[in-house]
Amino acid sequence: MPLVGPREMFAKAYEGHYAIGAFNVNNMEIVQGIMWAAAEEKSPVILQVSAGARKYAGQVYIMKLVEAALEEDPGVPVVVHLDHGPSYEMCRDCIDGGFTSVMIDGSHLPYEENVALTKKVVDYAHPRGVWVEAELGKLAGVEEHVKSEGHVYTDPDQAVDFVNRTGCDSLAIAIGTSHGAYKFKGDATLDFPRLEKITSLMPGYPLVLHGASSVPQKFVELCNEYGGKVGGAKGVPEDMLRKAASMGICKINVDTDIRLALTASIRQFFAEHPEQFDPRSYLSPARDAVKKMVAHKIHDVMGSSGKA
Ligand code: G3H
Ligand code: 13P
Ligand code: ZN
Repeated sequence: MPLVGPREMFAKAYEGHYAIGAFNVNNMEIVQGIMWAAAEEKSPVILQVSAGARKYAGQVYIMKLVEAALEEDPGVPVVVHLDHGPSYEMCRDCIDGGFTSVMIDGSHLPYEENVALTKKVVDYAHPRGVWVEAELGKLAGVEEHVKSEGHVYTDPDQAVDFVNRTGCDSLAIAIGTSHGAYKFKGDATLDFPRLEKITSLMPGYPLVLHGASSVPQKFVELCNEYGGKVGGAKGVPEDMLRKAASMGICKINVDTDIRLALTASIRQFFAEHPEQFDPRSYLSPARDAVKKMVAHKIHDVMGSSGKA
């Protein structure tokens, strides 16, 4: 199956009250771990590439890895998506390079500038059949090119205006999640009434949840047991993600949990096998750890198993 756009998978997810997992990829082991999990679970999947990933691995390398994955698992519908596209130029380069979906992240800009930039990307993407995700509201914490001290939750009426004026195909909203491993100081809370309001104003419209890693404590504990310092890490509880998926969130973004799964596995391996230095010896279990984590996520959190 060739790469696909997200239209059909989001329409089915919306109707079925589940979500599609969007997992960040940076190298071959991560691509394989995610794709093997999606194939085993017979689930559609989104492989997303940040500006940082593009810089690290190179756009062509990533696309070739994805091509190889498609050849190996032809039954899995796969979207390749630019995550947090910082500029029109980067979105254009990704569209020209074969991405089937791009995000233009103007969330840090004044409203009118976010509208203008998003519309410019939509005007380039749509004639070429490419999906555009945009963002309104700010997540606390650090994004690739954006640092925000606190959350600015998405205003529901402004979301309607934004989508009408830009023509963007999906919208990332801020309801209390944040990027990275330190999402909540106290109890985890998300603004579900706000999500409900947005969904009621835009029925059928696909919404996106960034900063949606759950930061499994078993990975944090393994990291710390084997020499890491990942103190006080806390993520979004899985039941909240399931609830969000049943309320119009069609795409759930996960990166931090992949990093934690990989790192925990490698730390443990090094501690237990200090004599080993063949990268395949520690990257194989690390890749398996990613696969296991993603399979769990698809099966028990996204609810997209069997929907390929
Ligand atoms: O939202 C950010 C993603 O986790 C990507 O992170 O920019 O370090 O690749 P990155
Ligand atoms: P996490 O840091 O919670 O994994 O979020 C990833 C993300 O939103 C990528 O765009
Ligand atoms: Zn994000």
